[in-house]
Amino acid sequence: MAEKKEQPDASKDEPEQIVDPWRVVTTSEKGVDYDKLIRQFGSERIDDAMLKRFEEVTGHKPHRFLRRGIFFSHRELKNILDLYEAKKPFFLYTGRGPSSSSMHVGHLIPFIFTKWLQDVFDVPLVVQMTDDEKFLWRELETPDVARNLAYENAKDIISCGFHRDKTFIFSNIDYISSCAAFYKNMLKVEKLVTFNQVRGIFGFNESDAIGKISFPAIQATPSFSNSFPEIFGEAADVPCLIPCAIDQDPYFRMTRDVAPKLNYLKPALIHSTFFPALQGAQTKMSASDKTSSIFLTDTQEEIKNKINRYAYSGGGSTEAEHREKGGDCDVDISYQYLTFFLEDDDRLAKIKEEYSSGRMMTGELKRELVVVLQSLIGDIQEKRRAVTDDIRRHFMTPRKLNHKA
Ligand code: TYM
Repeated sequence: MAEKKEQPDASKDEPEQIVDPWRVVTTSEKGVDYDKLIRQFGSERIDDAMLKRFEEVTGHKPHRFLRRGIFFSHRELKNILDLYEAKKPFFLYTGRGPSSSSMHVGHLIPFIFTKWLQDVFDVPLVVQMTDDEKFLWRELETPDVARNLAYENAKDIISCGFHRDKTFIFSNIDYISSCAAFYKNMLKVEKLVTFNQVRGIFGFNESDAIGKISFPAIQATPSFSNSFPEIFGEAADVPCLIPCAIDQDPYFRMTRDVAPKLNYLKPALIHSTFFPALQGAQTKMSASDKTSSIFLTDTQEEIKNKINRYAYSGGGSTEAEHREKGGDCDVDISYQYLTFFLEDDDRLAKIKEEYSSGRMMTGELKRELVVVLQSLIGDIQEKRRAVTDDIRRHFMTPRKLNHKA
């Protein structure tokens, strides 16, 4: 059955929002309306019943990203849980478009969560580095510049703690030029998807470079297990689960439309919300705006200064007003960031209560966040220092992974 198409927005007074792989913008200071997005994209909300089933099947308390609705939407996650319960194989697929030498904290969200899923499910993972995409879209002089960024970012990704025997990270430029099986699947997708379809999904036009127009086939291809003969041999029927933020969903709506025509399985998806920009939830954290982002290369001092200087506050404009009316956690960026990274549910609830009532000031809230972020990023930086070129090459070598499938 064809995927549900995006619905035109009927209601006129609602804030405007655009969510696609290149833009996340809304006029609402509370950020993207995710219920509306679920309706537009035709995905399903991860509800309490799904979380309960997750815990029953895996024996793990759901990750804080699940408990707090950060991973909030899915396509056919139920099938994956059924497979896990029946001890049947599947694999994880996620990716990164290496546009800058350092990733930012927003990019960490899918990788932290994917690492947790890899631990819980004990399955292989493929990570696509779309250096070709970034060469086509950005002002990068040569494909090699993009590929080097992919290598640098691969080290950031490895620092999230992925299992060295269960993880294959690949640069598209390197892998596609060496793997006929991958290229053949790309060709099959390219033959079945028309310009009209990609124009409808991605907004391409006649002036776009032809490389951009065919790129969606490249992001679709890792969803099919026989694109990785070193891992799965010729098996085309190992199901795939893709964790990503919901901006990537258009690629996979296309993939899910095309899969049955190739006799392949549709990938399942699990989508996250966006880690917002420092300046407020109207946009996502983005590497192209340096002041909107905290990078994995930022020093402890820089982290503190960025939070203190730029993190949008939902507090009162004077101390007296704040004490009287309290802070607004729905728009306060420091509080929003804590929902992503503060593990302790009770402490988070306490902060919310204290800040909303006006007993806790913005400065104290920011201090809490600075400690949490400095520790998170300090830890990743320490792990990254231990990732040598040999270790990176190991992760990026096509090879048999240690899995049961
Ligand atoms: P890229 O490099 O833009 O983003 C990498 C991953 O991070 C997610 N992401 C965010 N998540 C939360 N908050 C944010 N502010 C934020 N910004 C980015 C993205 O959704 C993505 O999951 N074309 C892709 C690379 C790719 C890919 C994939 C991603 C290839 N295959 C399969 C996911 C799944 C890209 O440029 O991602």
